[in-house]
Amino acid sequence: MTTQDPIYKTDALIAENIDAYLEAHQHKTMLRFITCGSVDDGKSTLIGRLLYDSKMIFEDQLATLEADSKRVGTQGGEIDFALLVDGLAAEREQGITIDVAYRFFATEKRKFIVADTPGHEQYTRNMVTGASTADLAVILIDARKGILTQTRRHSYLTHLLGIRHIVLAVNKMDLVDYDQATFDQIVEDYRAFATSIGISDFTAIPISGYKGDNITGGSDNTPWYQGTALLPHLEQVEVDTTSDLDQPFRLPVQWVNRPNLDFRGFAGPVVSGSVRPGDKVRVLPSGKTSTIDRIVHLDGDRDQASAGESVTVTLADEIDCSRGQVIVAAQAPLEVADQFESTLVWMDEVPLLPGRAYWLKIGAQTVSATVHEPKYEVNVNTQEHLAAKALDLNAIGVANVTTDREIPFAPYAENKDLGGFILIDKITNHTVAAGMINFALRRAQNIHWQATDISREHHALTKNQKPATLWLTGLSGSGKSTIANVVEKKLARMNRHTFLLDGDNVRHGLNKDLGFTEADRVENIRRVGEVAKLMTDAGLIVITAFISPFRSERDMVRGMMQPGEFIEVFVDTPLEVAEERDVKGLYAKARTGQLKNFTGIDSPYESPENPELRIDTTAMTPEEAADLIIARLIP
Ligand code: ADX
Repeated sequence: MTTQDPIYKTDALIAENIDAYLEAHQHKTMLRFITCGSVDDGKSTLIGRLLYDSKMIFEDQLATLEADSKRVGTQGGEIDFALLVDGLAAEREQGITIDVAYRFFATEKRKFIVADTPGHEQYTRNMVTGASTADLAVILIDARKGILTQTRRHSYLTHLLGIRHIVLAVNKMDLVDYDQATFDQIVEDYRAFATSIGISDFTAIPISGYKGDNITGGSDNTPWYQGTALLPHLEQVEVDTTSDLDQPFRLPVQWVNRPNLDFRGFAGPVVSGSVRPGDKVRVLPSGKTSTIDRIVHLDGDRDQASAGESVTVTLADEIDCSRGQVIVAAQAPLEVADQFESTLVWMDEVPLLPGRAYWLKIGAQTVSATVHEPKYEVNVNTQEHLAAKALDLNAIGVANVTTDREIPFAPYAENKDLGGFILIDKITNHTVAAGMINFALRRAQNIHWQATDISREHHALTKNQKPATLWLTGLSGSGKSTIANVVEKKLARMNRHTFLLDGDNVRHGLNKDLGFTEADRVENIRRVGEVAKLMTDAGLIVITAFISPFRSERDMVRGMMQPGEFIEVFVDTPLEVAEERDVKGLYAKARTGQLKNFTGIDSPYESPENPELRIDTTAMTPEEAADLIIARLIP
C-alpha cells in the first residue's frame, strides 16, 4: 500500500508543517507507530505527554491547555495532557471525513509519526487505516483492568496487518501503587494470548502517562523494572528494512517516463531487494526478460538502488512494460495469478456483495475484481471463525477474490506492498475494504483458456448478423417482457437468430437457487451476464428482460461484452404506473408486507445514467418501443 491511496488522510497539522518539519529533521530516522487503547486507558494523556515532552505543541495550543487545565481544576494545577489531544480531536471532527489523525514529534535521536485513532469498537476501519503504515504498535493497558476484549482485538488487528514491533504499555501504574505483581500478571496473561495468535515477541513497560513514570526516563517508583522507558525504547527500536533488502528485487512500475523517443524510463519504488545495471530482469505478468541498462537519478546515474528507494530504470531491450507491471529479478520472479484467498477488513456502511465487481488497487495497478461468498468471518474479540454470507462494516473475513486479469503478487505476510490491496466501489468511489493476499488458488494456475478454432467471428458470419445483447432493465411490471417479446418476433421475421432470456423463466431453472436479497440479485445478473456473453459469442442477438436493479452489475455485464455489443435499454415506467398496472398482483402483496425486498417498495432500483436507449412506456405502445429498439440495433 502506498501513501497515495485514498484511505490515507492527514490532518491539517501535518499538511501545514510537514515540509518545514521534515527538512529540520532530515538526518534522523523515522518511526511510524500507532497507539491502541480506549480513551479510558489513558491514550490521550500518553500522546499528549509525548508531544509535550518533545515540545511539539504550538505556543497557542499550550496556552489554551494551561488555561483549560486550570479551569477543569486538575490536582496540583498539573497540565491535563488528555485535554490537548481531545481538543485536537474535536477540531478534527469538524472536518468530518478525517478518521485518523497523524501527529509529529521528534527527539534528539529520531522523528516520529503517531497515528491516533478513535478507540471505540466501531472503528476497526480507522485502526486499519492508521496501522497499515505503522512499524510499531503501542498497546495500552489500564493496570487496574488488565487484558480486555479490546486489547485482544487491537493485538489481533495489529498482527494481521503485519506490524512486527509491539509495546505493551501497562499504564496507570500509579493507581496500583506501582505493584510489580500486578504488572507481572498482566504480562503473563498477555504473553499467553499473544502466543495463541502468533505474536512471538513484545516489550512490556510499566508506565504512568499521567505522572510521567517510565516515559522519558526510568522511574524511582518502579525500582523493580530494569528495562528501558517508553520514549528511549521508541528511539532505539530497530525498524530498518533489512528484511526487505534480503528479498529478491521487485519494482512495481508507477509510471513510464518517455520524454522523447530515445528514452523510456520505468519509475517506481524498490519494494524489496536491490538492483544494479547489468542485472537480468523480468517484467510481470508478461514474463518478458531484459537487462537493466541504467539507474537514472537527478544527480547522475547510480550503480545500485535498494529497497526503500524510488528510482527510474531503463531496460536494454524494447519490451512492453507499463504502469502497474512489476520488474523483478529474472531468476526469482513473483507469482502471477487471478484468484486468491484474501483476508478482508470491510470498511464501508454498505456490506460486501459477493459477486459484485469492485476496483482492486494493488501497488500501482487497478483491476476489476469480484469477491466470493466469505469462507468465514472472524470474531475479532475471540478469534473464533463464524459462518458468513457477507461482511458488514468493520467485519473481518476470509474470502476468495477473482481478478479480471492476472496480476503479479506476493503474499502479504512476505511483502505488504505486493500483497496488500484496497477495494473501491465502482459507483460511489468509496474505499470499501482493505485486503491482504494470503495465497493464490491453485485452480487459477490449472485452468487455462482453451483455444478454439472456430472463432466468434465465424459464428457471427455463418448467421449473417452482428451479435449483440439488448439489455432491458426497469421495474417489475414496467413492460420489459412484453417489449422483449415483440422485439424477438420482429427480429425473427427479419431472419435474425435470437434468444430471449427472461427473469421469470431463468429463475425457474438456471437460477432457481436464488431469491431477491441484494446478494442473490447480484448473482442472478452475473450468471445471466455470463450466459448472454456466451450466446453473443455464439453469434446470437440476445434479448434480456431482468429488473437488474443495480448499476454495478449492469456495468459489469457491459464490461464482459465486446465494445458496442451491449445495448442498455431503460424501460422507464414510473413506479406509480407499474404499481397501478400490477399485472402479477405483486405490488399489492409488497404493500401489505406479504412480499419482502420488492423492487421499488423496500428494495432499491438504480436508474441507468447513460443507457443507449430510454423507452418511455407512458408515451408509446410496445410495438413502437420494439421498433425503436430495432432501429438502434440495425440502423
Ligand atoms: S432481478 O432483480 O434479480 O433482476 P428478475 O428480473 O430476475 O429480478 O426477477 C424479477 C421478477 O421476479 C419480477 O418481475 C417478479 O415477477 C418476480 N418477483 C418475485 N419477488 C420479487 C421481488 N421481491 N422483487 C422483484 N421481483 C420479484
